[in-house]
Amino acid sequence: MRVIPVWEGDKAPLKKGFEGDFKGKNGETLLLYEEERVLLLGLGKKATEESVRRAYAAAVRAARAKKFKSVNFVSPGKFEKGFVEGVLLTNYAFTEYKKDEVIEHISFIGLKDQKLLQKLETIRDGIFWVRNLVNRNSDDKAPAQIAKLVQELGKGKLKAKILDKHKLHEEGMGLILAVNRASSHDPYLVQLSYHGNPKSKDHVVLVGKGVTYDTGGLSLKPTDGMLTMKCDMAGAATVLGAVKTAAELGLKVNVTALAPLTENCIDGKSYKPGDVYKAYNGKTVEITNTDAEGRLILADALSYAAKHLKPTCMIDLATLTGAIVIAIGEEMSGLFTKDEKLAKQLLKASDETDELLWRMPINEDYKEAMKSEIADLVNSGGRDAGAIKATLFLQEFTGDTPWAHIDIAGPAYLTKPKHYNTTHATGYGIRLLMEFLENR
Ligand code: BES
Ligand code: MN
Ligand code: ZN
Repeated sequence: MRVIPVWEGDKAPLKKGFEGDFKGKNGETLLLYEEERVLLLGLGKKATEESVRRAYAAAVRAARAKKFKSVNFVSPGKFEKGFVEGVLLTNYAFTEYKKDEVIEHISFIGLKDQKLLQKLETIRDGIFWVRNLVNRNSDDKAPAQIAKLVQELGKGKLKAKILDKHKLHEEGMGLILAVNRASSHDPYLVQLSYHGNPKSKDHVVLVGKGVTYDTGGLSLKPTDGMLTMKCDMAGAATVLGAVKTAAELGLKVNVTALAPLTENCIDGKSYKPGDVYKAYNGKTVEITNTDAEGRLILADALSYAAKHLKPTCMIDLATLTGAIVIAIGEEMSGLFTKDEKLAKQLLKASDETDELLWRMPINEDYKEAMKSEIADLVNSGGRDAGAIKATLFLQEFTGDTPWAHIDIAGPAYLTKPKHYNTTHATGYGIRLLMEFLENR
């Protein structure tokens, strides 16, 4: 099959009298039964990189619905990145539990930049690696299994370091251990480094929330809230996938992924509301809600990174709060940082990739809500401004290191397919981070 793009308002290649059948609206498709099957694809009137990405996503969906195994996609002549990404990212199926088919042979007709194709295929591989990990059953990606994956990745040009439960005890990572108490799977803190620029002192540390399942703990989630909670390690998958992809692209950067990994479960050993635990940096935390577990494990990881990894900057990615989804929805992540340089670089990467970030305020007045009578901090300060309070909590563990927090609870995992995201996990953040790292 051949996919032919048509701008809205241009004449579609249709037989006389049938011109009205196709307007060329963005994402509109019309299948013609010529000698070779032809799919007309509307691009709309005024295109952007993202509208082209979405239009070609519609073409891939239409081709897959008709079970075409070999498709030639004709280039729109501009927005080549959106063209290629729209096709590549939509040709995804998660087949561990159900049969599904993808297009086996794809060609990009009239693509001017062949090098771009190679690069985008490498990034696609990284995104699919993240999607596959996040979509999998929680018990098929338990902390030990992810640690093993990281160890395997560490055999090539990447370096892996794994802290197991015993080591976490020795180091005094009281918050990771508290969250892990009721789990039948041991916790891990995993580290994966790529030194692509040995001459430079620049070192980006990416920290990712790795809760392999979030029941809420004793502050149990209702069924509907729990349904998607195998996605709660998306931050960890994304930062690990980012380092792996940066290495495969051969980027001239030094970057480390750090991911605390545990479940948040219930049993007789559960950590309890009212309990106080001590963090890696010595601060004590009163647990006021066991469902605010992400910030606890990130706190230990962030203070560990600041102390041991000599980061020039730290960026954490986390499916941290429901509050951010209420505030800005599934289309974008919340960006929290006081560092203007980091903000500028990340927002630019967001503009370039259409992986949207929305800058959120860090209002110190809300620190009041994070005070405890019997410890240095509480872990949850109530529902209002929930995403900001979570950030204020994390801030207590970052020291002087320039730091940005990205709450990806919205776009990391979708309940319904949308555009070029076909199955739940999106791999959001890989394109953003590659762009950010490339420009460093
Ligand atoms: N993993 C959740 C946040 C989440 C919600 C991610 C929806 C993706 C979709 C997080 O651990 C959590 O439970 N947060 C609580 C915090 C509250 C108890 C202070 C929340 O947002 O309700
Ligand atoms: Mn939770
Ligand atoms: Zn969580």
